[in-house]
Amino acid sequence: MSAFSESGKLWGGRFSASTDELVEEFTASVDFDKRLAACDIDGSIAHVTMLARVGTLTEAERDQIIKGLKDIGTDIARGEFAWSNALEDVHMNIEARLAERIGDVGKKLHTGRSRNDQIATDIRLYLRNEIDELTVDLDRMMTALVDVAEREADTIIPGFTHLQTAQPVSFGHHMLAWFEMLYRDRSRLVDCRRRMNVSPLGAAALAGTRFPIDRYDSAEQLGFDGICENSLDAVSDRDFAIEFSSCASLIMMHLSRMSEELVLWMSQQFGFIDIDDAFCTGSSIMPQKKNPDIPELVRGKTGRVYGDLMALLTLMKAQPLAYNRDNQEDKEPLFDAIDTVRASVKIYAALIPAITVKPDAMREAARRGLATATDLADYLVEKGIAFRDAHAIVGQIVSHALAAGKDLVDLPLAELRQYCSAIDEDIFDQLSLEASVAARRHPGGTAPDQVRAAARRARERLQNTT
Ligand code: ARG
Repeated sequence: MSAFSESGKLWGGRFSASTDELVEEFTASVDFDKRLAACDIDGSIAHVTMLARVGTLTEAERDQIIKGLKDIGTDIARGEFAWSNALEDVHMNIEARLAERIGDVGKKLHTGRSRNDQIATDIRLYLRNEIDELTVDLDRMMTALVDVAEREADTIIPGFTHLQTAQPVSFGHHMLAWFEMLYRDRSRLVDCRRRMNVSPLGAAALAGTRFPIDRYDSAEQLGFDGICENSLDAVSDRDFAIEFSSCASLIMMHLSRMSEELVLWMSQQFGFIDIDDAFCTGSSIMPQKKNPDIPELVRGKTGRVYGDLMALLTLMKAQPLAYNRDNQEDKEPLFDAIDTVRASVKIYAALIPAITVKPDAMREAARRGLATATDLADYLVEKGIAFRDAHAIVGQIVSHALAAGKDLVDLPLAELRQYCSAIDEDIFDQLSLEASVAARRHPGGTAPDQVRAAARRARERLQNTT
């Protein structure tokens, strides 16, 4: 008997009419779920290995099935597998081919299993691997940030609040702020992986199976840390995909913030950085243009990933237990989130070292913005004036400097003393950008020595993460 029923479907026994073409097209997922093929085969091999261990399959049957699955895996990897829409999905494409290749024994593969626990297993295996590779790229990007932080610890850039010049900071310090964002993102991914890495296999359609399966055995073969405790939950929930997409959304949000800064910094108006030609593109009409398209695209792609997250949350929200076909719709958003975040992190890991800084422009901007006004107020406090009064005095000096078109450090002592007689010659040691930055010498502060120490700690933290 062929693996196919009269209707041509693996599930067609109870059907007398063949499937409408429109239905076939509407329900098929093989176009996108075929990327799960290698995971599907791994899951099947673990399943039959376990079935042979508990005596449900003979060892000979197991060996034939495993050989057939491996051969199919090779065909798929070589692009020599003819996928069929009529066979709906990756699972039935492979299973039907197995029976064609090895004969009736191939029809025993699906013993004690359902596509419901099968797909839940496949996605977890696939996503687990993607998380591992994404983590490697995140580590590369974080290492690149630490390298720049060390190199540019002494480079001074104006720090902003409200995008108005606030206080000078070390450029390295700014890079380490980006590092911290990504470091948290990484730990969220590791956490997501840990919660996800349990095996749904054995849940079968929803209620489990009457075969004497050993769920721990198949789980262990597949590198899962344990099993899903409840069969209904195992086949139905996609919260792990939602959790990953939420981690991916946070990564994209952070990359998008970095992108925004890079785009601003590279503009003629800021002129703080340049990005190597290899990472920029030109204009088809304006010959002078060199555009930061990579950061712009990453900023733009952030919206896609948020959309993927929303799609998954909405997909799940009204589903009764247990499996519903709605869940087939989880793949495209999940794959899109994976592909987008991976491509973005990968290109950023390469782009960070391609940034060159322009310290003179940064210094000039900090001076123009009177970035050391807080230092002058702090100086008055050290001379015994209450901070609120010092703030008011410096406010007047700032008005004066702006009217005179000068930085605070360039005002003559006599002019400064008109506002406050407590000001002495020693003020000029404190109003320079270097002095301002160097004075913030506590852990987490922007003094270059602190930045170098923080960069060292960042490197250690990276080396000690798992
Ligand atoms: N293609 C399906 C999915 O992605 C596989 C599970 C189908 N199960 C079923 N009972 N129709 O969810």
